[in-house]
Amino acid sequence: MRRPVRAPSSGCGLEGTMVETALSSAVRHIVSSDQLSRADVDRLVARAQELAESRPPLLSGRIMATLFYEPSTRTRLSFESAMLRLGGLVIGTEAARDFSSAAKGETLEDTIRVVSGYSDVIVLRHNERGAALLASSASAVPLINAGDGDGEHPTQALTDILTIATERGSIDGVRVALCGDLRHGRTVHSLVRLLALYSGVSLLLVAPASLQLDADIVEWLRAAGVSCATAADANALDDTVDVVYQTRIQRERMADLDATPADCVRIDLAVMRRLAKSAVVMHPLPRVGEIDVAVDSDPRAAYFRQAHHGVAMRMALLDWLLA
Ligand code: NCD
Repeated sequence: MRRPVRAPSSGCGLEGTMVETALSSAVRHIVSSDQLSRADVDRLVARAQELAESRPPLLSGRIMATLFYEPSTRTRLSFESAMLRLGGLVIGTEAARDFSSAAKGETLEDTIRVVSGYSDVIVLRHNERGAALLASSASAVPLINAGDGDGEHPTQALTDILTIATERGSIDGVRVALCGDLRHGRTVHSLVRLLALYSGVSLLLVAPASLQLDADIVEWLRAAGVSCATAADANALDDTVDVVYQTRIQRERMADLDATPADCVRIDLAVMRRLAKSAVVMHPLPRVGEIDVAVDSDPRAAYFRQAHHGVAMRMALLDWLLA
């Protein structure tokens, strides 16, 4: 089935002409998974596998600026590690809301205009959906969305695809159970868009009704040929599932914490016993109890390997945008 051109709005947030203007500029920005074709993703996966463990000085003297308005461990440090391994240099601020001129009331666009004169690429994490798209319209250098509120997180999704490809060999035909907070989880929003590029993909969406994936994204996935089924809890996880992709409840994005299901979907040893021997258990991390630590020693637990793949994928991406 043909893939509709652009997924519904829970992705990059700002729609219509803004999207087209920002994404069709001469500078290549990475704002949404929607911008990537299957050929792009396959090429990035192959390049990441080639670059893993190596330190070729491909970006010697180039400067990456990291602007993080929200907390981060993996994304910021793996981007920094990737740039340093490629021989590049890193500048940035990790608490940009307090330590950049945003604290004085400067607009995001003005900050980006200035920082794009100091660097060759900008990596932006922001608390508001649509911020990366807005920022890209003001940036003279490639801008990479490292997470925009509950919108998207395309470089995590690329890391996730690299992990599935490495653990399993291929993406085509994979059956993925996406679990946890599918409504607010930006990694899920970007990952489903990349999975839709492959054939024979089926998704099991495991979440309580209040945290389910938006109906318009499910409808778009079905139109793109992805089979989607829903389930309310971890009882649905069985030996037909190839990949379990667990996520954290995004409490910081919820106005009404009292209405949040306390115990969403939990992966423990009982669930692991029901999964196939070849299953792969993933999580973008951080986890806060939704995977029992007893699961960590199971060889099917791939979440720490997944976090490490982030460096190679970001090397491939920086090389693609800058070399
Ligand atoms: C995620 C994020 O920031 O969206 N983490 C990550 O980048 N690896 C997931 C989360 O915060 O739950």
